[in-house]
Amino acid sequence: MTALTDSFGRVHTYLRISVTDKCNLRCAYCMPAEGIVWRQKEELLTFEEIERVASIMVKFGVNKIRLTGGEPMVRRNIENLAKNLSRLDGLKTLAMTTNATMLAETAQTLKESGINALNISLDTLKRERFLKITRRDQFDTVWAGLQAALTTGFDELKLNSVVIAGFNDDELLEFSDLAFNNKLNVRFIEFMPFKDNEWNVEKVVTYKDMIKEIEKRYTLTPIKSDRSAVAKDFSLHDRDGNLGKGSVAFITSMSDSFCATCNRLRLTADGQIKSCLFYPAEINLRDRMRDGASDADIEAMIRHALQLKPEAHPPAEELAKSDNRTMIEIGG
Ligand SMILES: C[S@@+](CC[C@H](N)C(=O)[O-])C[C@H]1O[C@@H](n2cnc3c(N)ncnc32)[C@H](O)[C@@H]1O
Repeated sequence: MTALTDSFGRVHTYLRISVTDKCNLRCAYCMPAEGIVWRQKEELLTFEEIERVASIMVKFGVNKIRLTGGEPMVRRNIENLAKNLSRLDGLKTLAMTTNATMLAETAQTLKESGINALNISLDTLKRERFLKITRRDQFDTVWAGLQAALTTGFDELKLNSVVIAGFNDDELLEFSDLAFNNKLNVRFIEFMPFKDNEWNVEKVVTYKDMIKEIEKRYTLTPIKSDRSAVAKDFSLHDRDGNLGKGSVAFITSMSDSFCATCNRLRLTADGQIKSCLFYPAEINLRDRMRDGASDADIEAMIRHALQLKPEAHPPAEELAKSDNRTMIEIGG
């Protein structure tokens, strides 16, 4: 087996698969206010096509797959895809990132279909703010989804929160309380620029500033993680020295990028390989597969995408002007 290595020697073991570009929320930082033009069903990869690409990648060393979107749970029968992927020999982690709007009823089914790591996205603990940022009044549903995930017991349960100055940066302590009291890793994400997502540099809260705020209530101690981990993880102790049940983490894409250890590849819902979240170039696997490409052809295209992967992404201000697709189209 020859590993999936790029021209800078980075070995790729993690595949993020967007299963749909559709979402039932309208998060302002993820998609433009006027929405996007949804892809037609036939433009999206079928489950069989996704499984084919995934199995080729797993054969060459991918051991972690994340299902994302859009909102992965709006793709009908997603649990069938999960079941088939979870059976791939060599796959250790099958993860999903979801907005949790449909989780209250489905958490157990997801676990049974082989999802062993779950990330839930929630940016505020205040109902009115939730409506403002997601443009949908679904806070209670998402909260019920989070509770269902906590009781179902996944091997890994994380909560993603995009921190935006002037919007939710006053909730860092409340989110940290949530991590302290539950077996949950709360990940604070630095706000990233994508096409038409109202980003500007003043809205970015750096992880160093977030840490200063959280340290008003908790002592943070770094937790050692593997080299390719994108998050900086910390355990929490309160002022009486009690250790929290969960932990917090920071995704520092803006102030301290982790390109040097990047091990990720992305497959978009319409079948494009993207080697870097911020690099507009894409390799169209879908059309070649539909034209009868062999597994060896697909492998060659994946390796070609890796050769095009840049060493690092450009600085934030440049990214804001780039021709990259919106986050919802790429798949988060
Ligand atoms: C695009 S969503 C897709 C999966 C699912 N619908 C969800 O809400 O988790 C994946 C993740 O990307 C994050 N995200 C989207 N736009 C972002 C941005 N501009 N900066 C930082 N994170 C972003 C979301 O908060 C979410 O945690």
